[in-house]
Amino acid sequence: RERTLVLVKPDGVARGLVGEVLRRVEAKGYRLVALDLRTPDREVLGAHYAEHEGKPFYEPLLEFMSSGPVAAVVVEGERSIEGFRSLAGTTDPTTAAPGTIRGDLGRDWGLKVQQNLVHGSDSPESAAREIGLWFPGL
Ligand code: GTP
Ligand code: MG
Repeated sequence: RERTLVLVKPDGVARGLVGEVLRRVEAKGYRLVALDLRTPDREVLGAHYAEHEGKPFYEPLLEFMSSGPVAAVVVEGERSIEGFRSLAGTTDPTTAAPGTIRGDLGRDWGLKVQQNLVHGSDSPESAAREIGLWFPGL
């Protein structure tokens, strides 16, 4: 069964939306295989977002992601990588489709980095790398 790494980002945890996100994941039919609440350090975040190093939003992104607890979740199910990306909606919450997590629950707050509530791995390679990073030994 395919696995994906889902994060409820600090904005989602602060707004009390962990249950709402997990409700949607479970209602879709996926299974939770690991779940942990923690404030990630820069080492994990630097590796997690290595592809964005050097971009203008990289530093604000790491600052935001380390600003408070994140719910890290390993989700399992047939085509769960694509499936969760579809549940999450597009990156910009202003225009993410209604019905998606970002579209229904997110908005622009006029900050340096887009706060968009959730992360989901974007490919099997990313999923394997990210699950190893957030849940070593799983
Ligand atoms: P993640 O699930 O967090 O990886 O989001 P994503 O896959 O939808 O987007 P991507 O990996 O391209 O970017 C990671 C994060 O960087 C996004 O969630 C945003 O918070 C932020 N980000 C990405 N692109 C931009 C941008 O063009 N401008 C700003 N301000 N932030 C961005
Ligand atoms: Mg991404």
